[in-house]
Amino acid sequence: KPQWSAMFLNGHFTLEEEDKPGMWEETFKTHSDSKPNGPTSISLDFSFPGVEHVYGIPEHADTLKLKNTDGGDPYRLYNLDVFQYELHNPMALYGAVPVLVSHNSQRTMGIFWLNAAETWVDISSNTAGETGSSDAPQTDVRWVSESGIIDVFIMLGPRPNDVFAQYASLTGTQAFPPLTALGYHQCRWNYNNQEDVKAVDQGFDEHDIPYDFIWLDIEHADGKRYFTWDPQNFPQPKEMLQGLMDKKRKMVTIVDPHIRVDSGYKIHNELRSKNLYAKNKDGADFEGWCWPGNSGYPDFTNPEMREWWASRFSYNQYEGSMENLYTWNDMNEPSVFNGPEVTMHKDALHGSWEHRDLHNIYGLYVQKATAEGLIQRSGGVERPFVLTRAFFAGSQRYGAVWTGDNAAEWGHLKISIPMCLSLGLVGISFCGADIGGFFKHPGPELLVRWYQAGAYQPFFRGHAHMDTPRREPWLFGPDNTALIREAIRQRYALLPYWYQQFYNAHRTGQPVMRALWVEYPEDQTTFIWYDVHTFQKHKGAQNLYIPVTMSSIPVFQRGGSIISRKGRVRRSSTCMENDPYTLYVALSPEGTAEGELYIDDFHTFNYHKEKQFICRRLHFSDNALTSSNLAPDSKFTTAAWIEKVFILGAPRPASVSLTTADGKESAVEFEFDSAASVLILRKPGVNAGADWTVLLQ
Ligand code: GLC
Repeated sequence: KPQWSAMFLNGHFTLEEEDKPGMWEETFKTHSDSKPNGPTSISLDFSFPGVEHVYGIPEHADTLKLKNTDGGDPYRLYNLDVFQYELHNPMALYGAVPVLVSHNSQRTMGIFWLNAAETWVDISSNTAGETGSSDAPQTDVRWVSESGIIDVFIMLGPRPNDVFAQYASLTGTQAFPPLTALGYHQCRWNYNNQEDVKAVDQGFDEHDIPYDFIWLDIEHADGKRYFTWDPQNFPQPKEMLQGLMDKKRKMVTIVDPHIRVDSGYKIHNELRSKNLYAKNKDGADFEGWCWPGNSGYPDFTNPEMREWWASRFSYNQYEGSMENLYTWNDMNEPSVFNGPEVTMHKDALHGSWEHRDLHNIYGLYVQKATAEGLIQRSGGVERPFVLTRAFFAGSQRYGAVWTGDNAAEWGHLKISIPMCLSLGLVGISFCGADIGGFFKHPGPELLVRWYQAGAYQPFFRGHAHMDTPRREPWLFGPDNTALIREAIRQRYALLPYWYQQFYNAHRTGQPVMRALWVEYPEDQTTFIWYDVHTFQKHKGAQNLYIPVTMSSIPVFQRGGSIISRKGRVRRSSTCMENDPYTLYVALSPEGTAEGELYIDDFHTFNYHKEKQFICRRLHFSDNALTSSNLAPDSKFTTAAWIEKVFILGAPRPASVSLTTADGKESAVEFEFDSAASVLILRKPGVNAGADWTVLLQ
């Protein structure tokens, strides 16, 4: 770690210190770094008295709670295209968010180290009573960055939600995705041609599996010239997109930020003539090797470049594109196959800035420019959807991220959970892992289990490397098809809840996927949990042995919560927009419950610009369930109604009555399952946007 020792020493320099090798020029394998500014590193130490647990600083394939790095490598933040990454390792991966969160039962805090240069984080925790430590626990954290200034924000909490709000005030909240982006995504490197796309699309219908997006990887473009289509395999892109649109489905094409150096390619010619490429240290256009061969790297840190890039997505520029076509930005670390550590040289230039100074934010700007392009092509009306592999603090404002090239192994399925939880803690809620694993071929059990887990993670996409056998959900025999179908259908049934959670993340900065300590920072012994399939009730704070079979996905709803679902699953989320809602009211031991229902047009910015949305508070106490308006000045109406209500843990009522806004009272039909203590109200027949109260007597 030559850089580390140089930086570390530098942090403690005195003027008498002599030059060390590597301070004014450094070599890494066959690469040399000219270091025109010499050593520029900065460092600062923080101590957290009373703290044993710290989290955050993604992206690492590691546990949620950060480990002591005493005696080992620190956690490294340096966006890199890592081939076959290792688990439980502090090595740098594709993205970097320099935000660390500390937590104990009294206080949650955060440190935001705003620096986009290569950064290392050393963590040293003493547990109370540990040999050689004082009685009180303490965690010490050292940040070291290769260049830049010390610009640190301390978020004082005291509760997790306060830290999220404080951090959101600095970097923004999760972009509110169109509903469709929360459905299932079917990807592979590659779907080979239009017939292939059509056959896969039909496969979903034949097997009665819903999906929203089919994805095209790099082979769809003509010679990896992004914004074009391979003339042999995709001669009629609009016909293909129209076919999907007729079924209310959508497509994503990949648009990577390396541009084939080719005088017959319009994008390249314009970038060169407008002088919008990043430069090497001598001021010529930086060139490196990537998928298309020799490539240029647009300087996304330049606002003029981003504006030009955004304009490429207009329907008249991106030929063959239509409004149901969205975008995937990959390789934006940036990946440079023949560069040091497979990325850009640190002494490359973005205007007068060295790449060294801003490396970790390059990928954010790629996604930002792309998302702006998708917004602009619709005249500012439609919400975009853009997936990115590289990210930085604030990337949440531009779309979704995924955890890159994982493998078809159980350990990779397991690590997807802490990896997404870590991202959520630092504002990036819209995260997922390649279902099934990117490299290698999953056996049916792993694939089924991965769908079952992925259905409950924010970004839900199956993806696979081109060298793997095909793995569409129906290729593993009818029993496994049925299990995967069921997992995806559970996802679709819960879309109203996912949507409301994303609205909440967008509004507050709170993560969608949350660790238990985030949700219950203090005591959690008084909770009860209901199995969402059997309605069986479990008391909190105990160890339970719950046997499972391949068909069980153990999912629990907390007593005290109200969750909305849709009972009829259709071809895609768009087909379900106006379908009725079913409410699942899970009572707390005190007989209360609380939830929200959020509805809008599901795809435009009108919820924001025109206040066109419905936000209802659903509240149960004193044997009454009430829907009241949380957004009195919003203007939106829905055709959807409440078709059923399940009240879990309810007493048997003698009668149930409904009172509507006009004061009219009517009796509601109900059923009571005494074995499970579940009360089912059939057809309360109220509009999902209306005020009403249901009273159990
Ligand atoms: C990278 C991406 C992977 C993609 C491949 C080809 O490895 O991480 O998802 O399929 O490039 O574009």
